[in-house]
Amino acid sequence: MVVTVLLLLSCLLLAQAQNCSRPVGGPNMDLRDKDIVSSTFPDGSKASFKCNVGYRPEGGSATITCTAGRWSPVLLRCQIASCGPLEDVVNGIIDYPNDAVFGEKAVITCKPGFILVGSSEITCGDQGWMDRIPVCEVVQCDPPADIIDGKFSPSKESYAYREVVQYTCKSDYTINGSKSLSCSEDGTFKPAAPTCTRVQCKDPEIENGGYKEGARPPYKHSSSVTLQCNSGYVMKGTPFLTCDINSQWSPALPECELVECKEPKIENGKWKVGSGPPHKYSSTVMLECESGYSIIGESTQRCDKNGRWSPGLPQCKHSGGGGGGDDAGGGGRGGGDTISGGAIAAIVIALVGASAAGLGYLYFRKKKRSRRENTDNEATKEGEDVALS
Ligand SMILES: *[C@@H]1O[C@H](CO)[C@@H](O)[C@H](O)[C@H]1NC(C)=O
Ligand SMILES: *[C@@H]1O[C@H](CO)[C@@H](O)[C@H](O)[C@H]1NC(C)=O
Repeated sequence: MVVTVLLLLSCLLLAQAQNCSRPVGGPNMDLRDKDIVSSTFPDGSKASFKCNVGYRPEGGSATITCTAGRWSPVLLRCQIASCGPLEDVVNGIIDYPNDAVFGEKAVITCKPGFILVGSSEITCGDQGWMDRIPVCEVVQCDPPADIIDGKFSPSKESYAYREVVQYTCKSDYTINGSKSLSCSEDGTFKPAAPTCTRVQCKDPEIENGGYKEGARPPYKHSSSVTLQCNSGYVMKGTPFLTCDINSQWSPALPECELVECKEPKIENGKWKVGSGPPHKYSSTVMLECESGYSIIGESTQRCDKNGRWSPGLPQCKHSGGGGGGDDAGGGGRGGGDTISGGAIAAIVIALVGASAAGLGYLYFRKKKRSRRENTDNEATKEGEDVALS
């Protein structure tokens, strides 16, 4: 009961009041100046909207009316202001990262060989583009840097884009850096100007070695020499050197080291006296064989200039009974066997011959006894047979 009464009462009060509260507009608009301060609007009053800065009214009435506590609908529509495309920039490119509308910007760049004069970015404002359009001027370079002990050509007041100058150094000087520079996009010559350096390398002196062939002093830039080591020395490094821009031999000077021979190892032998390792060029060692072995070759060896033992390492051979001796002994005995074998054979033959002769004699005597007439022929025949067998 109480609630219903209260509701009815409030309805009556509202109908009676008929005032409107502050109206709410559409996007990107606001109440006009005089209305903006009011918070209540009496029945029948009007309120006007206007578009925010950077926005333009796009049809629809800007005014609304308060009728019995209610506003008529807001019909105004506000569209973001467009600046439209910029005028073309001769030899330039205009880019709009976003639309050409309020608050956005246009970016202007020049084609290669042209340089921008003015601002490279223009913002779209409420009243259109906020800056003057820049211009792209053809690139011109001022003369490049002068250098000590050298010059460049051609020499001019100004140079066109991509025009090239050549640097040269006085005689005996070497150019360090690029000898040609060109007028670049930003109006300067690139790369950096070179320098002129007087290059002179010292004599390539090395211990235990020296010059073999190549350039003679004075050694200028790029002269090259070949070095060699004295006999009995080996080179550590490169023999072929070139004089570089820093007046240094490149690669670094080599070194000459004394030739070394390997450990003189022989089977069943050892070194007795002489220089211990390292065995340098011309050092000598004396080798000997272990007991029971005898040396074949020279016992004294000298390390030669090629790092080899000279006259050549000896060998140790078994002496006497076993081992290496077998061959020779075997061969000797083999010969003896042959001889004794032959002797035995001779004896056998002799014995056989003798017994045969004996038998033959007995037989002959028997025959002689029985048939004296033809004994001679028979005996001869028998003797021949025996000799042949
Ligand atoms: C309506 O507005 C008028 C003038 O602004 C004021 O005098 C009146 O009291 C208001 N009525 C109500 C119910 O607020
Ligand atoms: C050559 O030029 C380079 C770079 O400019 C510099 O660092 C160097 O010292 C120069 N060398 C000589 C020998 O002048």
